[in-house]
Amino acid sequence: MSIQKKQNDMSTNSALQAAYPWTKAPLLASAPMLNIATAPLAVAVSAAGGLGFLAGGFDISSMEGNLEEAVQLIKGSNSTIREVYATSNILPIGVGFLNWGADLLKAIAAIEKYRPCAAWLFGPKKLPDDLRPWVEQIRAVTGGETKIWIQVGTVAEAVVVAESLDPDVLVLQGSDAGGHGLAQSASIITLVPEVNDALGARQLNPISLIAAGGIVDGRGLAASLALGASGAVMGTRFLASSEAKVARGYQEEVLRASDGGVSTARSTVYDRVRGILSWPSRYDGRGVVNQSYVDAVERGMGDEENRALYAEELKKGDAGWGPNARLTTYAGTGVGLVTEVIPAAEIVANVIEEAKNAFAWSC
Ligand SMILES: Cc1cc2nc3c(=O)[nH]c(=O)nc-3n(C[C@H](O)[C@H](O)[C@H](O)COP(=O)(O)O)c2cc1C
Repeated sequence: MSIQKKQNDMSTNSALQAAYPWTKAPLLASAPMLNIATAPLAVAVSAAGGLGFLAGGFDISSMEGNLEEAVQLIKGSNSTIREVYATSNILPIGVGFLNWGADLLKAIAAIEKYRPCAAWLFGPKKLPDDLRPWVEQIRAVTGGETKIWIQVGTVAEAVVVAESLDPDVLVLQGSDAGGHGLAQSASIITLVPEVNDALGARQLNPISLIAAGGIVDGRGLAASLALGASGAVMGTRFLASSEAKVARGYQEEVLRASDGGVSTARSTVYDRVRGILSWPSRYDGRGVVNQSYVDAVERGMGDEENRALYAEELKKGDAGWGPNARLTTYAGTGVGLVTEVIPAAEIVANVIEEAKNAFAWSC
């Protein structure tokens, strides 16, 4: 089969630019990381010309407070996002949901009230059926102004979502990604071009493709574009931003770990020790290898004992993180490239600049 013409070309790039006029090209977004991506991080990313996401998660009880804080930060910002918000009444940040648990009615009420520029859907029990009411109702209450982003992890998922839900954006999450993702998936190096070809072959409407998983610098962003994406999402890199709501012990573990193919692993153990048992079975999570993992996977320790040890470890605070400790450090294989904590605005500026330079050099 011949390689399909890249379907997400100028039209999808200009659709993104029209929807998010404050963003710089190429588009760089921060992931809606549960409990970590709160208002300060999301707003700092958008204020710097990226697209920041708040995490609504599966228990969206803190979402409204986060959105309210974001509004205040945006109103006090000296970035163009303040003007964008004042003139359009669209909140220049997105909100992410974990759909296996999130409450649709509460989410729709918050979206109607705050009008975020994007709603990111991920992890439904049944794909695509469970997402249909979300897509329809979000579009209905915002007149299509809140764009629909759906994170998927295989070619089959991308095709079924594109055919049945017509999202504005597909986030293609490869196996290098930190946090939760499909237990079985490929890296973005094959996922992005194969999805691009599959959508092109079916002549589906142009849908913007955004790459996720293992991207931590401008080289990764440039590579995403070369693979056929219109931009990239980073989670792990923003764990080491000044605005991430993350414990010092967690952040130090992100800085310490290197060689992410071996220092991180995909597993359900990190959920099991924390008593989070409701993720659909096709998902697991990538985190830095620690004692909970070693005990469960290499020593066959049962969940009950491992969970009790985890609960004890919580009492240690920051000292509870580390290779010989037990608190979870969700992070992707790019963790070895993350070596310093800097403001999110610097991360956005550096990564976009590096990506432009990488392209200029290769042309
Ligand atoms: C600590 C952490 C928490 C995450 N939480 C969420 C979440 O709540 N919802 C979601 O859709 N994705 C979540 N993700 C996955 C991201 O959306 C994204 O796919 C991933 O971070 C990309 O890979 P990277 O970490 O290598 O950049 C999380 C990732 C990390 C690292």
